[in-house]
Amino acid sequence: MSLKRKIKELQKKREEVILGGGEAAIEKQAAMGKMTARERVIAIVDKDSFQEYDMFVEHEARDFDMDKKTLHGDGVIIGTGRVYGASICIYAQDFTVAGGSLGLMHARKITKIMDHAMKMRVPLIGINDSGGARVQEGVNSLAGYGEIFWRNTLASGVIPQISVILGPCAGGAVYSPALTDFVFVVENISKMFITGPEVIKTVLGEDISMEDLGGARVHCEITGNAHFFAESEAECFEQIKKLITYIPWNNNKKAKPFPAKKPKKEFKIDNIVPGDPKQPYDVRELIQAITDNSEFFEIQELWAANIVIGFGRMNGETVGFVANQPLVLAGVLDVDSSCKAARFIRYCDAFNIPIVTLVDLPGYLPGIDQEHAGVIRHGAKVLYAYSEATVPKITVIIRKAYGGGYIAMNSRHLRADFVFAWPGAEIAVMGPEGAANIIFRKEIMSAENPEEMRKQKIKEYKDKFANPYVAASKGYVDSVIEPSETRNVILHAIEVSADKVAPRPNKKHGIPPF
Ligand code: HXC
Repeated sequence: MSLKRKIKELQKKREEVILGGGEAAIEKQAAMGKMTARERVIAIVDKDSFQEYDMFVEHEARDFDMDKKTLHGDGVIIGTGRVYGASICIYAQDFTVAGGSLGLMHARKITKIMDHAMKMRVPLIGINDSGGARVQEGVNSLAGYGEIFWRNTLASGVIPQISVILGPCAGGAVYSPALTDFVFVVENISKMFITGPEVIKTVLGEDISMEDLGGARVHCEITGNAHFFAESEAECFEQIKKLITYIPWNNNKKAKPFPAKKPKKEFKIDNIVPGDPKQPYDVRELIQAITDNSEFFEIQELWAANIVIGFGRMNGETVGFVANQPLVLAGVLDVDSSCKAARFIRYCDAFNIPIVTLVDLPGYLPGIDQEHAGVIRHGAKVLYAYSEATVPKITVIIRKAYGGGYIAMNSRHLRADFVFAWPGAEIAVMGPEGAANIIFRKEIMSAENPEEMRKQKIKEYKDKFANPYVAASKGYVDSVIEPSETRNVILHAIEVSADKVAPRPNKKHGIPPF
């Protein structure tokens, strides 16, 4: 056969594989607003930068008539490409081929590209659209997932791992994403669950829709399993690309710097925070008053909104922000917000991203619900994550910093490098009302006019403790600053922390309150 004919043969073979599960299956996907697996990869990577591997891999299963079936590429595409010039490894499961289910060869393709990502120290993007372990391949499918989970864990904190859920994902297809750093979902398309509605019906006799069980909103608003919500696949891909601009490509690098910009003039830092500590405000505006071009890339925006986390840039460098949100539950720490903050702090620490903490909270949320939900264990995650982190850690106390909340939000005592406080900061064991009721109870009760006495004692307490100067007199706060000085003091702190060294005792690893 001439080379020309051999090339033609190759082209024909490629065309067959590209058809995946066939035209009818592709049309069914398109009707649901879904791109094909290859279209998704092409939409994420820079133009003409995708190189595919293992296109002609086929499954080797023989049971349940599998020997009569051709599964093109065994239902997954793997390859390398670039995103804004950064090299990445990527895989995309193809639901048109046996529901994207994971058999032995499918798993081998994924683990091959994962190994490559680890060897080359580049980010890994996984597009998941799969019914989970391929039932017909039995323990081989389970082995395949085990191999993926093991690699996810090994790669954690070494290379960024990004998961995209673009279909009904079940079983192993959701546990791998759960082990990765960021999970992206799309309205109406993404579903995540351990067992699907059919199994639930068989085992529990309950009828439940896929959307109610684990739709995109469920995981963005209720479970916290997903980090980014989009209304279309195209919007989701833009979010992924944006995220990649903020993070370093591996744990030995810093994020690529951008040209420095000033915050936008419309974010006037003096006008954002009300003087009355009971009045709420949107802390995201405060972050925008500090960051370059007032840009803030928020993570897990729809879950545990009483804490705000995300990336911004300061003088071109990526910074991780952790901020109490007075707009929601007065910014308290509770089970969910503690988990949200702690994980993000660990991400920043693993990937050399300085952390800026903005404090304004009345403490941990009291009550039987939180206690029984494990606020002790989950709340301890914040203490652990801040204490453990060795990246530059800068704190600005805006208003309230009461009790455990004061300690937990990157206080000096957990080894903040720099602690600043605004003049309106109140640093105390608890709020003035609660404190006065406890320490002046006898005087209040025995007074001729208890209400008057209560007011007087609250004022006395406020005058003495509800300010930043007691903490500043002990050196727990390094400087009391004017709001307008905030950006410059943070910039200075980051600059002088560039070569920070923070030795830790030699150990295999700690035992965080998982
Ligand atoms: C083999 C599968 C499959 C699977 C789907 N398919 N899931 N084949 N193994 N796990 C096949 C279907 O047979 C069908 O093939 C095609 O994919 C499309 O599936 P449909 O059911 O027609 O699609 P849809 O109605 O959209 O439903 C999607 C689904 C459902 C919700 C994902 O297929 C489902 O419930 N699948 C099983 C999910 C599950 O319980 N997985 C857990 C596996 S255990 P044809 O030939 O008809 O087109 C697991 C263990 C890991 O993953 C443990 C980790 C800790």
